[in-house]
Amino acid sequence: MTRIGVLAGNPRPASRTWHAALALRDAVRQVLRHEVSDAGPLVDAADLAQEVFTPGGAKVQSALDELARADVLVIATPTYKATYTGLLKAVLDRAPADWLRGKVVVPLQIAASDRHALAVEVHLRPLLVELGGRVAGRGVFLNESALAGTHDELTEVFVRRLDADALNALVPTPEVVL
Ligand SMILES: Cc1cc2nc3c(=O)[nH]c(=O)nc-3n(C[C@H](O)[C@H](O)[C@H](O)COP(=O)(O)O)c2cc1C
Repeated sequence: MTRIGVLAGNPRPASRTWHAALALRDAVRQVLRHEVSDAGPLVDAADLAQEVFTPGGAKVQSALDELARADVLVIATPTYKATYTGLLKAVLDRAPADWLRGKVVVPLQIAASDRHALAVEVHLRPLLVELGGRVAGRGVFLNESALAGTHDELTEVFVRRLDADALNALVPTPEVVL
């Protein structure tokens, strides 16, 4: 069964970015046309901030190992200084080359201003592609003004924004075991 994971790169724990990433995970689940597991690895990078620069730190390593078990990964960040956060980059710098090989990645970037609406495409997307991830359609940009709604409302916004055909074309149908 397809497993969808989440990595959110806000240094503030349980941030709006984190909650938006969970809503996007649910939207991906809705648009995929085959069975999706309820369980998937969820990593709030704020929990890793204390040790992300400790070489060999076990917590970061085990978070990366957990995330590597997902087939689809929502990778979310607030926009900081027109790009992604330093925390997200520091976590991903600990990942091995090709860490995302074979995975479909759904990038999400949130910003206060629409001036940075393309940051998800010009900054976050290349980082994830460098790690081997495949991105279906465009990365998802969200202005923070859209974060006021409920989880279900936000999920609905994301369902409308996702390119369902592109996503279904990239996510492999799980093998049926007879
Ligand atoms: C240090 C810092 C830098 C930011 N830089 C930008 C920026 O360059 N462009 C922008 O549109 N918003 C910027 N913002 C606003 C955040 O991207 C926005 O408020 C986002 O919703 C924060 O995520 P959160 O609500 O999960 O904390 C910045 C916020 C902070 C704290």
